[in-house]
Amino acid sequence: MKKIVITRRINPAMVDKLKKDFEVVVWDEDNTPMPRQRFLEETKDAHGVMTMLSDKVDEEMLNGAQNLKVVANLAVGYDNIDLEAAKSHGVIITNTPDVLTETTAELAFTLILTSARRVLEANRELMAGEWSGWSPYHMAGTDVFGKTVGIFGMGSIGAAFARRLSGFRTKIIYHNRSRSEAADELGAELVSFEELMAESDFVLCAAPLTEETRHRFDKAAFDKMKRSAFFINIGRGAHVVEEDLAQAVRNGDIKGAALDVFENEPISDAHPFTDIPNMTLLPHIGSASVDTRNNMMNLCVNNIMEVLNGGKPITPVR
Ligand code: DGY
Repeated sequence: MKKIVITRRINPAMVDKLKKDFEVVVWDEDNTPMPRQRFLEETKDAHGVMTMLSDKVDEEMLNGAQNLKVVANLAVGYDNIDLEAAKSHGVIITNTPDVLTETTAELAFTLILTSARRVLEANRELMAGEWSGWSPYHMAGTDVFGKTVGIFGMGSIGAAFARRLSGFRTKIIYHNRSRSEAADELGAELVSFEELMAESDFVLCAAPLTEETRHRFDKAAFDKMKRSAFFINIGRGAHVVEEDLAQAVRNGDIKGAALDVFENEPISDAHPFTDIPNMTLLPHIGSASVDTRNNMMNLCVNNIMEVLNGGKPITPVR
């Protein structure tokens, strides 16, 4: 019987579906990743693996996994996977595009409004019993309505976010490797990185992490932004030089930031971001709705079954 390893607790119905035809080993933990050593051990004789973004699929793992045919990553991003190494070992990599687009765009939208309207600051004040009453400028924030929003990475999530902005009468500009038809339809304008940073009142990073985009948001980039602007990141933490962002927000070089992702996750309350009031920080929940997570799991299961039964993967990473 072919063996499948799943590196985190998933919906039991999906495990049962696989168990009909395969031996399945599940790391039955919700919050802790399968330890690296165990991952290397279990995958040695595995034919398929369902990985999370916290699992590294690299030369070391692939070298040891001689039977491996498919790795189904439970994420649209796949920066945890060495694609070159996978290719040279003949291992198919799949991800979960499309099924999480709308949910992740909703979270991006939550972040833009939350940071602009100081929702968390206001909530913290009230919960701490520090609300002394109404006053004209109390917790006064920034309007999103009528502003310029810049999107870095106009893939399907960037476009779904842009569609949500249409009721806010914003000007949308974007920076992307190529022109996006979806963005064109929304009247968005393709601009250089420098223009994006300089003209936007809100910059959203929705790009996949590549060597080209790693640490793209550094001091030089934040220096280009308006002092009244906000930076929002739902892509990957490593797009950002975190020290530079902390300094930009602390010094008032930009107005605030809202982040769902960090370079080294999870962060603790000792992270320099956590004592900056105008930062909205979330624990990487971009695609975390129950329906979407179930759809992502289902897609991973179907990708693994297709490949191990001799068919073609549904959503291969090319
Ligand atoms: C992804 O799919 O890449 C997300 O970051 C996971 O929530």
